[in-house]
Amino acid sequence: MKTVTMDSVSKSYNGEKVLDQVSLEIAEGERIVLLGASGCGKTTLLRLIAGFIVPDVGSISIAGELAARDGRIFKQPEQRNLGMVFQDLALWPHLSVKGNIDFGLKAKGLPKAAREERIKAVLDLVGLTDFTNKKPGELSGGQQQRVALARVLVLEPEVILMDEPLSSLDAELKVRLWKEIIQLQEKIGFTLLYVTHDEREAIEIATRVLRIENGQVDSGVGHSPNPGSIG
Ligand SMILES: Nc1ncnc2c1ncn2[C@@H]1O[C@H](COP(=O)(O)OP(=O)(O)OP(=O)(O)O)[C@@H](O)[C@H]1O
Ligand SMILES: [Mg+2]
Repeated sequence: MKTVTMDSVSKSYNGEKVLDQVSLEIAEGERIVLLGASGCGKTTLLRLIAGFIVPDVGSISIAGELAARDGRIFKQPEQRNLGMVFQDLALWPHLSVKGNIDFGLKAKGLPKAAREERIKAVLDLVGLTDFTNKKPGELSGGQQQRVALARVLVLEPEVILMDEPLSSLDAELKVRLWKEIIQLQEKIGFTLLYVTHDEREAIEIATRVLRIENGQVDSGVGHSPNPGSIG
């Protein structure tokens, strides 16, 4: 089953083409890393999938349903069952760890008992049970990153979009969190789209790397080092 499909998607800002007829298919449970230089269009691609912007031409489908086509939107961001973690974690500073995680659950209208249960489970999953009542400002960078992750995981999205979520962390912590993200993904099975410009990070995390350059996405399949030599 394809979770995300883009068909000949182009996107320009003020007449400058950022993505040029990009087509890609992402299957359930893949860990896709989007890799490319600053300004190549990585965030633009995630924003298109999230539904914050629409393609000028071309179509995007999520879970087999048309989400946007040729400048028109058919599924709003909140109808796409996606979770997002950005570099700026955007945690609520005045709310506790628990409050931050509860925020989205409340918005979904879940009853209190169900919310409590899910929060407990997700805090356990990311190893933050001891920090339940702390404010983000009292946590380390890595712990804050885990809160941002927990806040998304608790909503059980099918697809999680991450835009350089670890770029503000030191190298050692980064490596530890890569491993945790991979473990969580393997355990829960969500589809991951992860943006970075760090080649090593890409190779560590990805089951498939998509490289963006000159508005084109190299789909990461069909590479033969020497295609002419077979047969
Ligand atoms: N809202 C916008 N209005 C105008 N131009 C934009 C807008 N957003 C992005 N751009 C331009 O589109 C291009 C791609 O931007 P994008 O943010 O997608 O790059 P990126 O690959 O995420 O870069 P980085 O690695 O620096 O985050 C850049 O040239 C950028 O200046
Ligand atoms: Mg970006």
